[in-house]
Amino acid sequence: MKGIILAGGAGSRLYPLTLVASKQLQPVYDKPMIYHPLTTLIEGGIREICLVSTPIDLPRFRQLLGDGSRMGISIEYREQARPEGIAQAFLIAESFIGNDAVALILGDNIFHGADFASAFGHFERGATIFGYQVLDPERYGVVEFDGSGKAASIEEKPATPKSNYAVPGLYIYDNDVVAIVKNLKPSARGELEITAVNMEYLTRGTLRVEKLHRGMAWLDAGTSTSLHDASAYVQTIEKRTGIKVGCPEEAAYHRGFLSISQFEEIANAMPCCEYRSYLQSVVKQVGRTN
Ligand code: TTP
Repeated sequence: MKGIILAGGAGSRLYPLTLVASKQLQPVYDKPMIYHPLTTLIEGGIREICLVSTPIDLPRFRQLLGDGSRMGISIEYREQARPEGIAQAFLIAESFIGNDAVALILGDNIFHGADFASAFGHFERGATIFGYQVLDPERYGVVEFDGSGKAASIEEKPATPKSNYAVPGLYIYDNDVVAIVKNLKPSARGELEITAVNMEYLTRGTLRVEKLHRGMAWLDAGTSTSLHDASAYVQTIEKRTGIKVGCPEEAAYHRGFLSISQFEEIANAMPCCEYRSYLQSVVKQVGRTN
């Protein structure tokens, strides 16, 4: 399975922060926001990744992540000239997707405590999306479940939501998604809507919606308040456990994408900083347990 990180958009709700650096490059406590969705894909076992962003921001992402080899993965880059919808990512990345299935994650979505390895690894066909209980579902795509726990409807930002289950920004599709998006018409707001893609799979009877368990965190960091909340959350967990949240190098090591000696070399090449000390402490711990 291939992975796409969508990290464009206008970021207007974070203005003036986003005047000179895109939303997904803003710090969430001690790391750039993009490290979180990147780590989610790596933890789930995805090694081939395409990052889609604006022509202005793409060079910065390249500077930050390079070709991905530092994380034992490969990263390709594609431009989205204008923010014409989340689903447009599948057209922009069509040549990257090739004949594979694909997981799309939004660059400002932070998942903690969830394990998507089996959702990615066991995926066969159709679509898999997720449902997460929130207090304010009207801000999101909302999924309604029938008595047997199957998805009955999906509505984009409904005034009167039929449930409290919002659809987070992580979607898994079979290769049909490209053809489905090619047949979509832009919505009234001029976007190729991801909800329209999900509705198509629902109509075909091949949409699975997995409820995320209530102990995990799904945060989006699109407003000043939610960005601050996300930073506070990451700091709280890291201070309590001593384990970093959203650390792609560590995830790559645990996944077997980097050997311990590669991991150590990467850590040692970093400037002297708290992040390097953390990676070096992981190396030491591995040494102790082996
Ligand atoms: P949004 O938060 O809906 O939009 P935005 O990032 O443009 O922010 P604002 O509303 O404050 O102007 O987008 C959700 C995510 O999807 C975010 O990571 C940006 C990304 N995105 C794109 O990359 N391209 C697009 O065309 C759209 C609609 C979103």
